[in-house]
Amino acid sequence: MKIAVLPGDGIGPEVTAQALKVLDVFVREGMPLEFEQGLIGGCAYDQTGHPLPEATFKLAKEADAILFGAEGGFQYETLPRGLRPGDALLTVRRELQLFANFRPVVAFPELVGASPLKASHIDGLDLVILRELTGDLYFGEPRGVHAENGVQVGINTMRYDEREIRRIAHVAFRTARTRRRRVCSVDKANVLETMELWRSILEEVGREYSDVTLEHLYIDAAAMALLRSPLHFDVIVTGNLFGDILSDEASMLTGSIGMLPSASMGEGTKGLYEPVHGCAPDIAGQDIANPLASILSAAMMLRMSFGESAAADRIERAVRRVLGSGYRTADIAEPGTKQIGTAQMGDLVFAALS
Ligand code: NAD
Ligand code: IPM
Ligand code: MN
Repeated sequence: MKIAVLPGDGIGPEVTAQALKVLDVFVREGMPLEFEQGLIGGCAYDQTGHPLPEATFKLAKEADAILFGAEGGFQYETLPRGLRPGDALLTVRRELQLFANFRPVVAFPELVGASPLKASHIDGLDLVILRELTGDLYFGEPRGVHAENGVQVGINTMRYDEREIRRIAHVAFRTARTRRRRVCSVDKANVLETMELWRSILEEVGREYSDVTLEHLYIDAAAMALLRSPLHFDVIVTGNLFGDILSDEASMLTGSIGMLPSASMGEGTKGLYEPVHGCAPDIAGQDIANPLASILSAAMMLRMSFGESAAADRIERAVRRVLGSGYRTADIAEPGTKQIGTAQMGDLVFAALS
């Protein structure tokens, strides 16, 4: 069980350290987890001149799983494309063909009060956003900025081929079969041809899963429905860009983006596990970031890459126990709860497991 650990920038190293702390419980119990750290993102650029050094890519390629923190930072935003921190992450996702990004959105009963939505609205919430991760506007060609008759033009291309849509559709239906058997496909088929193809392939694949209910929503309506009736959803399958946006929106159902873990899978069991949030430069280095998204991503890793479901369940129960005891990082604090820092939260989850 070789794990490439890529903490990255900002709060990335702070939250990843807590996930490693928690995984250490299982190492002590004899689980053969092996960790190797690599540089990625802005810190890699600073030290090597590239956000994805060859050694890091090799490490990621050869590992059974990748535990990633976050990358980015305002100081890197004017670098040429290809040298920006985000490009490193996109390259890993794309080169390793980790096309299926699972973003579970669960409202822990202990946290219903932390969401800006009414408790009755989110009580029992358990949905998963399945975001296609290696296509769409993120990777379509042509792209770039060039001059046309002296006028600057910016171009990105929304592109999906039927094979890419078909494989994510199968993942969606197979996932629904392990859950409440409902798939909601989110697109913009009323305006975009790419999305018209998306919808027709979803329909076609859906016919092979007659035991699963398929519905379609346009992205604008879906953004509304997610807040109006979040409990309606089971599996939401959507493209790369819409999935990116919907998941940050969905994070508010749980109380904080610091609660959303993710797993990015290809055809096999190898996966990339990372919190949905970014490097949060506004709170980096202060020991106040919520590490639970990273800790819960580590649980997903044990379950999805290593088949260690019981260990994953234990982590999730430990997280709930700590929240149930009233301990909160600042982002999910409520009146009457005990506010603690990043490392302390890691310590408490560790203690709840041991
Ligand atoms: P962000 O997710 O970093 O932060 C958005 C807001 O959420 C901020 O107010 C931040 O303080 C808060 N937040 C995020 N994670 C938190 C946590 N664990 N606990 C408590 N609060 C948390 O998004 P942004 O500000 O738009 O982007 C900052 C940088 O991160 C940019 O450079 C961006 O490109 C990058 N980014 C990276 C990733 C990634 O590594 N996967 C994802 C998104 C953004
Ligand atoms: C995410 C992030 C990334 C994305 C960025 C940092 C490239 O927002 O993982 O959600 O857009 O996929
Ligand atoms: Mn995002």
